[in-house]
Amino acid sequence: MAKQIKVAVAGATGAVGREMLKVLEQRDFPASEVVPFASARSAGQKVPFKGGELTVRELTEDSFAGFDIALFSAGGGTSEKFAPLAAKAGCVVIDNSSAWRMDDACPLVVPEVNAHDLEWHKGIIANPNCSTIQMVVALKPLHDAAGIRRVIVSTYQAVSGTGQKAIVELENQVRRLMSGQEANPEVYPHQIAFNCLPHIDVFLDNDYTKEEMKMVKETVKIMGDPGIKVTATTVRVPVFYGHSESVNVEFERPLSPQQARVVLSQAPGVTVLDNPREKIYPMPIDAAGEDATFVGRIRKDETIENGLNMWIVADNIRKGAALNAVQIAEALIEQGLLGVPGVNR
Ligand code: A2P
Repeated sequence: MAKQIKVAVAGATGAVGREMLKVLEQRDFPASEVVPFASARSAGQKVPFKGGELTVRELTEDSFAGFDIALFSAGGGTSEKFAPLAAKAGCVVIDNSSAWRMDDACPLVVPEVNAHDLEWHKGIIANPNCSTIQMVVALKPLHDAAGIRRVIVSTYQAVSGTGQKAIVELENQVRRLMSGQEANPEVYPHQIAFNCLPHIDVFLDNDYTKEEMKMVKETVKIMGDPGIKVTATTVRVPVFYGHSESVNVEFERPLSPQQARVVLSQAPGVTVLDNPREKIYPMPIDAAGEDATFVGRIRKDETIENGLNMWIVADNIRKGAALNAVQIAEALIEQGLLGVPGVNR
């Protein structure tokens, strides 16, 4: 008989946690039981699942006994505290926060790119930053084809990446401003409605934001190639769902736009939408709710020998977070990698 797989979802009342439940349901994930956890504030609350409702439990130190997989999206502090406890209890953690991403003991995985890194997990697997995930899904096949030297990326990131409270803030600000009231920013340092903020996460000593440096470092770790240089500008825009990215890539070898379209159209997880004359290109309103990473506006960078420009869009809550986490869980099952080495494997 197939193993009964018990799944915990930590942060199940949040924007990503709710989507995790939805993705588990939609993909008919082979779970014998799914249990939602959140803070004490939400204990007893109901969340929808498979046509019914599940009751949210408070996440505590003893929550993980008997679970095989825990999907975490409850903030970095919660992950730092609870993920090691889960792993100690033999439950493999797939963590959506940035807490474990650059830890040498934790694989950082996008299944289309580096599912092989799951082999060396020790109980905690990190889900990359949303902007990084969609970029590497598109870059990996191009790297294999022509060798990437350098990437210059600018992002246009949706407010849902900040969480449920930011979705509410954008909604409220639009309403308030359209009725002549002040914006009253609370989640963001400035008004987000009808505005763009070149500021995601905190500023670091090098004047980049932490979000920008996540894209730089995580790309190298996932692609497994320190030779790839990445520089990033990350911007929050008044879009609810779907991150967009303008990406300039310099290659070692020639790759024409048409060759890139062919490579990308055969790549797992990628859909090419590239017919500008017919006004066909990726847009966040179309990507929202979809699983694919959409690539379009592929064109030659005429200022360098081997360069392309492109536009990459994906649903940040799905491929950028919940879907990628569930795909990692599916890959673990497929590769027979459930259980924590030294604890229950
Ligand atoms: P809660 O709703 O009880 O605060 P988002 O990213 O959309 O803001 O969601 C964050 C998620 O993380 C929510 O489900 C939130 O639960 C959960 N969370 C935040 N802090 C904790 C904590 N200390 N323990 C467990 N869950 C937490």
